[in-house]
Amino acid sequence: MTTREENDLLTRTGPGTPGGDMMRRYWQPVGLSAELKDAPVPVKILGEDLVLFRGEDGIPGLMGLQCPHRCADLSYGRIEDGGLRCLYHGWLFDRHGNCLDQPAEPPESKYKDEIKHTAYPCHETGGVILTYMGPGEAPLVPNYHFLHAPEKNVFTTKVYHDCNQLQANEGNFDPAHLSFLHALNPGRDGRTGVNLTMQEVMGKQTRPKIDTERTRFGLRIYAQRDAGEGKKYLRCTNFVLPNIGFFAGDGGRSGPTSYSVHWHVPIDDESHWRYDFYYDAKDGIDHERLNLKVNTEMGPDYRPTRKRENRYLQNRAELDATFAGMGVYFPSHDLFAVETPGRIHDRTREHLGASDVAIVQARRMMLNAIKDVQGGKEPPGVIRSQNENVFNDLIILSVMIDKDQDPKQYTNNIAQTQDYHALKA
Ligand code: FES
Ligand SMILES: [Fe+2]
Repeated sequence: MTTREENDLLTRTGPGTPGGDMMRRYWQPVGLSAELKDAPVPVKILGEDLVLFRGEDGIPGLMGLQCPHRCADLSYGRIEDGGLRCLYHGWLFDRHGNCLDQPAEPPESKYKDEIKHTAYPCHETGGVILTYMGPGEAPLVPNYHFLHAPEKNVFTTKVYHDCNQLQANEGNFDPAHLSFLHALNPGRDGRTGVNLTMQEVMGKQTRPKIDTERTRFGLRIYAQRDAGEGKKYLRCTNFVLPNIGFFAGDGGRSGPTSYSVHWHVPIDDESHWRYDFYYDAKDGIDHERLNLKVNTEMGPDYRPTRKRENRYLQNRAELDATFAGMGVYFPSHDLFAVETPGRIHDRTREHLGASDVAIVQARRMMLNAIKDVQGGKEPPGVIRSQNENVFNDLIILSVMIDKDQDPKQYTNNIAQTQDYHALKA
């Protein structure tokens, strides 16, 4: 059972909070490449108001939103003379937060050299701009396959969520809900056997056997469902500290070369952006199809059409065709599930069951990571060397295997034989 103190540690991420200190030890997406054109944009991440901009050289920078002079909004500023210039009195800043010019001060003044504005390093890859907001030297940018794939192999977008990030990420490693919330054919038709699709097996086998295994970067979650005729359906999903879920989803047809990622980044404690990556190393991604799909359920501003205010447009006449009556788009179902517990889910009110085992363990890992940082240690999964920065052991699966096969052994075999470089298309 999660105590109130633990819930606060897990959900509060503003500056100076223990949870926020832990989250800041990892690179985090702060914007999509597609939304950062010529004009600077105001952004909020981990409770901090910032301005994201491209310098004249096209390289992104991230600084405090308010000018350190008299606090005007820098997102209205001018990109010129090697930096971002405030509109109010013309102070000019480079992307490291150095003040390069104070044109209203006496010409002999050295005052500008005393000014250091808040600035965070950025790295653009995989359709997103990542930032490191922690202390000291930034760790290496994780070499996740999807972050470094050619454009044709990855589709990147984001979706606004009106709730804390953790409750949404918890849905990613909750294998049981796939049999309910997302079921598209809830009427049981009595068929069994390997001719069933994986989706049908999930609908029929509502009690998956769930096992977990610690990895160097988080938690592997195995869910097995009997598929009849000597087979079982295995899903292997990953929680990656501190706020990422890797799973076989759309674009993740099956196997380790193709998967989906949800990266849940706090705007503040009551809202977040879920950055979505659909990745396929071998066959590439059908951008047109995914664009169409995403645009069906989302406005042009990355805000979902189905939301709390319109009761997720539930159509109860549709309950025969879908379990939720909320269309066929899974992320819309998930919005209902993760937003309705409240903006910051109060975990002291829960009644957890055996099927929640992965969620309990992931929370424990996060609390331990917070303790690590409080104790002056680096939390797990922060990458400091090229050796660690190979993710052959990050395995995502959605496969039919023999009933007697041990899922951990099956998956670890793949981890040992998988060559990340061979996966790159
Ligand atoms: S407030 Fe920005 S230069 Fe004065
Ligand atoms: Fe879901």
